[in-house]
Amino acid sequence: MSENTEHKCDCAGIHLDIEQYIQKHKGDSGALVQVLHYVQERLGYVPKDVQVKVAEILGVSLSEVYGVITFYSLFRERPRGKYVISICQGTACYVRGAPEVLARLEKELGIKAGDTTEDGLFTIEVVRCLGACGLAPVMTVNKDTHGRVTEDKIPSIISFYRAQAEAESSQVAGD
Ligand code: FES
Repeated sequence: MSENTEHKCDCAGIHLDIEQYIQKHKGDSGALVQVLHYVQERLGYVPKDVQVKVAEILGVSLSEVYGVITFYSLFRERPRGKYVISICQGTACYVRGAPEVLARLEKELGIKAGDTTEDGLFTIEVVRCLGACGLAPVMTVNKDTHGRVTEDKIPSIISFYRAQAEAESSQVAGD
């Protein structure tokens, strides 16, 4: 699978805002983290080209920027998919088969946890507890909760969201 890190956003306005924000906060203590928060808020992730821009304007090394991004798990280097699948690997879920469910998810989607499918539809994220331990094993797909998931249920869950995405895109095309 290719590394989906290329930033294809051509939204010049957002980029200008980001550049102005970086300039404005240059020299502030904690500017780097603050700026990265802002970028992620505007773009949903922190692309490589923006990391370079942040380093240049703040006068820090690219490895320092990268170090902060990888240290704080809230920062992402890649865009997330249309459907974010959060699969719980907390204790209650783990003992009820969550690792097998995760393995099936990875196999069905052809990606590993933390990655996004090439069509941009699905991202798999591993979480530690979704607060619904009584339904273990649990996963969420965006705001939908799926409880007592078994690996055999994965193909139909994936198909459901694929069909939903197709229906939405054909609706948009037909507008
Ligand atoms: S451990 Fe999975 S929902 Fe709590």
